[in-house]
Amino acid sequence: MILKGKRGIIFGALDERSIAWKVAEKAYAEGATFTLTNAPIALRMGEINKLAEKCNTTVIPADATSLEDLEKLFTESMEKLGGKIDFVLHSIGMSLNVRKGRHYTDTNYDFWQKGMDISALSFHKVLQTAMKLDALNEWASVLALSYIAAQRVFPDYNDMAENKAMLESIARSFGYHYGVAKKVRVNTISQSPTMTTAGSGIKGFDAFYNYADKMSPLGNATADACANYCVVMFSDYTRYVTMQNLFHDGGFSTTGVSKAVMEMFMNKE
Ligand SMILES: NC(=O)c1ccc[n+]([C@@H]2O[C@H](COP(=O)([O-])OP(=O)(O)OC[C@H]3O[C@@H](n4cnc5c(N)ncnc54)[C@H](O)[C@@H]3O)[C@@H](O)[C@H]2O)c1
Repeated sequence: MILKGKRGIIFGALDERSIAWKVAEKAYAEGATFTLTNAPIALRMGEINKLAEKCNTTVIPADATSLEDLEKLFTESMEKLGGKIDFVLHSIGMSLNVRKGRHYTDTNYDFWQKGMDISALSFHKVLQTAMKLDALNEWASVLALSYIAAQRVFPDYNDMAENKAMLESIARSFGYHYGVAKKVRVNTISQSPTMTTAGSGIKGFDAFYNYADKMSPLGNATADACANYCVVMFSDYTRYVTMQNLFHDGGFSTTGVSKAVMEMFMNKE
């Protein structure tokens, strides 16, 4: 029960495969209370209501790019949960260029801006709204989910690479200001490829997934394992971790090559 008494807001649970879905289940099991939120259009699927029922909570619609929606979300969450917030999960990503199959070298800049607003700037909007409303308790923990394409090239990750780089940078910059002002910590978790709606939208995702699995000494980290890590990061056991990009990837990020991958290229005599 390491989250007992803690209040949170969880963005981005779309269906059972979503990382945010798993985080909600684990946070609930660890004693937290929280509200769930997603873009109004995503709520039409209705799946999230099942999760809300399981976690004994409600869903507050919010487009993470809308300051008005975010203000309403924080205000209503504090009312419903009975106090200021201790943790926030930003589990949001979308690229229109990826979705519409536009190559990185033939990008549509309107699509890019929209995707950047949803995937990166929305994190700043969440933090700024929270700060203006003074909605977070001291030592609150705010997390966003990232991917290693922020540091290294994965050709089909497209403009999401830049969006993730910006997301991680916002965690550092806002983490500084929120740390000084309120002792709030802000981090990103850089997760292994994971079979979800957002993940499998990337071209050639299967190959991507299998390659990472073979390259990682521990294999790919699952969504469940990611949820465990998020819960620890929301807890008081990680109070002095802030402004970090934390790799949760089975060792992928520091492996040059693995034996399993080398074997695929060895001359068979
Ligand atoms: N799946 C992977 O391989 C992987 C790897 C590393 C990081 N991540 C990151 O994890 C996060 C969660 O993705 P996921 O893999 O669970 O997929 P997912 O598709 O289940 O979640 C993405 C969520 O973003 C939400 N969203 C999109 N536009 C929004 C908006 N305007 N306002 C509010 N919400 C909006 C969607 O409705 C959805 O719930 C993303 O940031 C993703 O980039 C995923």
